[in-house]
Amino acid sequence: MSKRIEVNDLNVYYGDFLAVEGVSMNIEPRSVTAFIGPSGCGKSTFLRTLNRMHEVIPKAYVTGEVLLDGDNLYGPGVDPVLVRRQVGMVFQRPNPFPTMSIRENVLAGVSLNNRRLSKSDADDLVERSLKGSNLWEEVKDRLDKPGSGLSGGQQQRLCIARAIAVQPEVLLMDEPCSALDPISTLAIEDLIDELKTEYTIVIVTHNMQQASRVSDRTAFFNIAGTGKPGKLIEYDDTSTIFSTPTEKSTEDYVSGRFG
Ligand SMILES: Nc1ncnc2c1ncn2[C@@H]1O[C@H](COP(=O)(O)OP(=O)(O)OP(=O)(O)O)[C@@H](O)[C@H]1O
Ligand SMILES: [Mg+2]
Repeated sequence: MSKRIEVNDLNVYYGDFLAVEGVSMNIEPRSVTAFIGPSGCGKSTFLRTLNRMHEVIPKAYVTGEVLLDGDNLYGPGVDPVLVRRQVGMVFQRPNPFPTMSIRENVLAGVSLNNRRLSKSDADDLVERSLKGSNLWEEVKDRLDKPGSGLSGGQQQRLCIARAIAVQPEVLLMDEPCSALDPISTLAIEDLIDELKTEYTIVIVTHNMQQASRVSDRTAFFNIAGTGKPGKLIEYDDTSTIFSTPTEKSTEDYVSGRFG
């Protein structure tokens, strides 16, 4: 579990539009890396390239490399479905499958991957995943009730359980707390802190306090103007980014002067 990501000169396109240009960075295992930057600078776009979710959009493609423990995700013959099993994703809005029970939601990704499980193995996996996402105690007596009947914060933890049930190496999270109240947000942050002992975690956030609370390393992305590509401006230890960044634009952004 938990793998190192190395990105080499990645360019990300939507058809003719170069959305993100020339990103190179290393993301260490068992750590939390935060992506910050103004709206439209390409954080979500870049994040989705780390598990080949970008290319599900028609005409979207990348050039460059993303290596997971040395293996290029974009190499010839690599199956994107297998990539997404290793690199899981949690989205901004909790998106449990509304017609499925809590139990079925946790198992949804596992079933998609065609793994046949006995009832007792499935029960174990459901319990382990829900414990892993800190939701077990709240839902253990209602596993057959719809996932959509949970609160927003519980739904987001259900989605995290669904993501970890497939036993990925990396967890990508795109603004996972933006639809949540402060208490649920803190619960997710605590959870991220626990999960990093097992996973490589990348989180996009607009919340500077959150970035400084949860992440070890922070990457600041910026954009020179509309229609221009987003770029990685500075990438360093979170404490450095928030106290003594090298670039003026990073300092302006983290101190709230723009964005
Ligand atoms: N499906 C798409 N097709 C074409 N262009 C897109 C698509 N999705 C995003 N873009 C463009 O790519 C650029 C980067 O968008 P992206 O959503 O990655 O930004 P972001 O940094 O995540 O912004 P936010 O903080 O608002 O979520 C923007 O110019 C956006 O309009
Ligand atoms: Mg985004």
